[in-house]
Amino acid sequence: MSRLTLLLPAALISLATLSAQQAQTPQKVTPPSYAAIPAAAAKQPNPVKSSPESLARAKKWWNLDCAMCHGSAGDGKGSLAADMKLQIADFTDPASLKDRTDGEIFYIIKTGHQDMPPEGTRIKPEENWDLVNYVRSLAKKPAPESKP
Ligand code: HEC
Repeated sequence: MSRLTLLLPAALISLATLSAQQAQTPQKVTPPSYAAIPAAAAKQPNPVKSSPESLARAKKWWNLDCAMCHGSAGDGKGSLAADMKLQIADFTDPASLKDRTDGEIFYIIKTGHQDMPPEGTRIKPEENWDLVNYVRSLAKKPAPESKP
């Protein structure tokens, strides 16, 4: 047998394995951590004060672009999230975003994360900050009567 007849099937097999691996990558890949958020972006202060006006502007985008996954109340139970079997944090729980800076939330909304699509340039930066305020506003304040 010539060397070529041996080499050719071997090359074809490795090519096939390679493309099979590539096809699997989207589901197989381990979640990249949010540590990828650049420090400068995380530190960026929110220039938009949370106000009824800011929240009203954000609500429009929330209902258009976010509620199908995050749920209109932010509980993470949107219909698309259920269809896609996504695990989404409950933003009505104040613990969910307590360790996030506004800059980090801004960055996540702008660039997306894993199954979450990026807003990119679809919205203006001020509108992105409105959404940061909105996401924060979803956290339930502890009810006064729930005090021990
Ligand atoms: C296709 C479904 C989908 C849509 C649409 C979507 N998200 Fe998400 N979002 C996710 C998922 C899934 C995660 C968790 C990502 C991960 O695995 O880390 C997430 C994470 C987040 C986080 C970070 C939570 C954390 O743990 O710190 C924020 C904030 C957020 N989304 C806000 C939004 C906003 C605002 C919009 C609308 C502009 C939006 N998302 C649209 C699916 C979605």
